[in-house]
Amino acid sequence: MNQPEINIIEVTSTLPPGRILGVETSCDETAAAVIEDGRILHSSVVASQIDLHRQYGGVFPEVASRQHIRTIYAVVDQALQQAHLALSDVDAIAVTRGPGLAGSLVVGLNLVKGMAISSGLPLIGVNHLEGHIYSAWVYPAAEDRPPEPKFPLLALLVSGGHSELILMTGHLTYKRLGGTLDDAAGEAFDKVARLLGLPYPGGPSIEQAAEGGNPKAFALPRARLDGTWDFSFSGLKTAVLRQVRQLENDAKTVPVADLAASFQAAVVDVLLNKTLKAARHFKASQIVVAGGVSANIALRTAFLAQTDFPVHIPRVSLCTDNAGMIASAGYYRWAHGQRDTLDIDAMPTWPLYG
Ligand code: KG4
Ligand code: ZN
Repeated sequence: MNQPEINIIEVTSTLPPGRILGVETSCDETAAAVIEDGRILHSSVVASQIDLHRQYGGVFPEVASRQHIRTIYAVVDQALQQAHLALSDVDAIAVTRGPGLAGSLVVGLNLVKGMAISSGLPLIGVNHLEGHIYSAWVYPAAEDRPPEPKFPLLALLVSGGHSELILMTGHLTYKRLGGTLDDAAGEAFDKVARLLGLPYPGGPSIEQAAEGGNPKAFALPRARLDGTWDFSFSGLKTAVLRQVRQLENDAKTVPVADLAASFQAAVVDVLLNKTLKAARHFKASQIVVAGGVSANIALRTAFLAQTDFPVHIPRVSLCTDNAGMIASAGYYRWAHGQRDTLDIDAMPTWPLYG
């Protein structure tokens, strides 16, 4: 007789109902959100500090933490108001513990500790990378419920600090397959933007500059690193730098659009190829692409154009840092019994695994 198939969706559907307030202050966005049952997003407020940091060409940690202090109360208040809920209507508060900037993380942590003390609500510390992956579960309350991501799931997490391939065999269960050996994908976008004279943050700047450019204008290197699930982007960044220097030495105008488009195409090519290879190797049911770089239209288009695997890429507002993703991951942790004590501290270099 055939064994009945174990259906993970059924398991998750038995999780308790719950509303979670999420708070995120790991870098330069002050964010709060309310989510129901890990998926239904009732509100999401993000106060971006990008304009403040642009003059420094990157995130200035001291400025970031001060700005979090200035805005966090209003952001949390607004998230509850937009959800038409009071704090007494939520079941737990989830907060990013790390990885991130220490001075920024403690602002969110201290706030929610105070809220937990005064309300008696449980506190759940969430890993920021886990949050990015759980953005794939989130959908706005006003929309129809999309299908739940299916395990085993292959996640490509591409942000400012990480480029990782992660196999997820069930909720909260991760196996790291590989990651960048040098620059993260977002970091490469930011550095290449700087050397092309484009403003911070580099990802959106390169994307915009690349719009009128020819992605085949420059034959830039693609580090395949065969036999591993790792990535490397520093050679590509150096190749762009060499091109710029060469053009400047020859007193030629740097064709920014063509260089940006060629760089972007190389990054997308490497990410797509290795992710598909890993999905085939590990027999993934689907691919999830998450993190700030997954906001990139060329990347989204390339992943959605391939037909080998179903791909889910969260809407752009959920790709870059937000608290909906923290509230979602916090829900699944809360539903599986996690309760943290008030002495949890910021973990600036907290790995997701092991
Ligand atoms: O996930 P995220 O908001 O913060 C981190 O956790 O790091 O990712 C930020 C990164 C930055 O490096 C930014 O340049 C990049 O994501 N990014 C993009 C785009 N939007 C943001 N990269 C490429 N194309 C974009 N449209
Ligand atoms: Zn992030």
